[in-house]
Amino acid sequence: MLAHTAPLFAAAGDHPALGWTDKEVLLYVLSAVGGTLFVLVPVAWGLVNLLNRRADRRAARLEVENRTLRRQVAEREDGGPVEELRRKVAEAAQHTGHLEATLAQVREQAAGFERAAKGLEGERDELTTQLAEAQDSLAAEQRRVRKAVHKDGTTWTEKVLASAPEFKPLDPDGRRTPVISVLNLKGGVGKTTVTANLGAALARRGWRVLLVDLDLQGSLTGLFLPAAEQEDRHRARRLAGDFLEASFDGEYPNLPDDFAVPVLPGATCSLVPTTDEMAYAETNLTVRWFLKDARRDPRFLLRKELQLKRVTNQFDVVLLDCPPLINISCVNALAASDYVLVPVMPSKQATDRVTVLLERLKEFHDNLNTDLKVMGFFANRTKESDLTTDERNRLVALRDKCRDTWAAAPCFDAFIRQSAEVRRVEDERRPLGPGDELYPAFVRLAGEVEGRLPMFCRPGGRPTAAPVEAAP
Ligand SMILES: Nc1ncnc2c1ncn2[C@@H]1O[C@H](COP(=O)(O)OP(=O)(O)O)[C@@H](O)[C@H]1O
Ligand SMILES: [Mg+2]
Repeated sequence: MLAHTAPLFAAAGDHPALGWTDKEVLLYVLSAVGGTLFVLVPVAWGLVNLLNRRADRRAARLEVENRTLRRQVAEREDGGPVEELRRKVAEAAQHTGHLEATLAQVREQAAGFERAAKGLEGERDELTTQLAEAQDSLAAEQRRVRKAVHKDGTTWTEKVLASAPEFKPLDPDGRRTPVISVLNLKGGVGKTTVTANLGAALARRGWRVLLVDLDLQGSLTGLFLPAAEQEDRHRARRLAGDFLEASFDGEYPNLPDDFAVPVLPGATCSLVPTTDEMAYAETNLTVRWFLKDARRDPRFLLRKELQLKRVTNQFDVVLLDCPPLINISCVNALAASDYVLVPVMPSKQATDRVTVLLERLKEFHDNLNTDLKVMGFFANRTKESDLTTDERNRLVALRDKCRDTWAAAPCFDAFIRQSAEVRRVEDERRPLGPGDELYPAFVRLAGEVEGRLPMFCRPGGRPTAAPVEAAP
């Protein structure tokens, strides 16, 4: 402060005189400073104003620049190329996302197609294998059919496999129920008439008789059952043909309990009926046998059943009414029988045919059933109440013919003469019985049949029945 003030004193040439009081010095300094400030303050204000104006101008310029820049930025933000690019990039990214999703779907579908193609390939291979197998088995079946056709009727005597049910012969300690086939390869000789009336006569003599109608004409059934009942049994599949088919299919049908119908009031005589539907069973089983459709042998269906205790405990004798030809029913009958009973008409034509019958029976005896025996021949439909000389001579010739072959068998003394009574009782749907004119002839025949059976088979010679075995 004193340094500043010194020049002022000098300039004024007016410096404080020595000996001033302090108060005078202080006044002097203050007046010097005030003078200086009086000069300096306006200068400072001028400077400040100048600087302020310059700052305002500069601020206005900056404001203008700032607005310009903001406008430019706003323009760019609105639609500038960067934004355009950004939008395009965003769109491209979205598009890429879509494409990726589509690609993933396509890949998935392709994988599905691949899997399906593999599956189809597997199926194709499997089908090719099945086709090859089917072709093989078809070829084998064609060979079998050709072989069967080539055999020309002898198919039925084809070798019996070890698996076939064994024939258990009549035995006092075993099977005591004889099975008798009433057979002749000629029609109209009286097989059915004899089966029905012999059966009824035996039943009235105390035998428990089971009759089986094996002829697809169903004549034996027609003798006992009215058409409505036949129809019922057909619908219920309770006919002989149904039994054979079910048995072949391994269903273990029960012949005596489910297929036999009692047909003679006051006696035990039941019938397994047949209608012409047997023709279907015949064809069906024959074709299946030729084609070896099942391992089972359709020739032994009756043998298996008729030797079961459920049959032998309920019946003392079984009579099988055979058809006049060798078909599956007839083969079943011969494979199951102990005896063949042959009704003949004592005409030349009829007795000549017996030779053929004996030849066929021998084939069956040798190939299917070595226990098969010819029980005998007997005359039916003779002219008079006694045999004529011609008829007698024919029967003697027949007996001699049999004696010369394997089937040595006597002729029965009993014979049945031709009588309208047979038709009459057929119309009444009953067998001959006491009071009918021809009945005694059947009783005689029944007596002779009884005499040709082992003693132990007769009803009186039997032990009390063993319990019936359960179905397998
Ligand atoms: N002794 C007889 N007297 C009269 N007619 C008979 C006699 N035996 C059978 N007939 C008749 O002959 C026809 C054929 O008999 P049938 O027993 O059916 O023979 P098959 O069963 O051998 O074909 C039947 O119409 C039956 O009435
Ligand atoms: Mg008949």
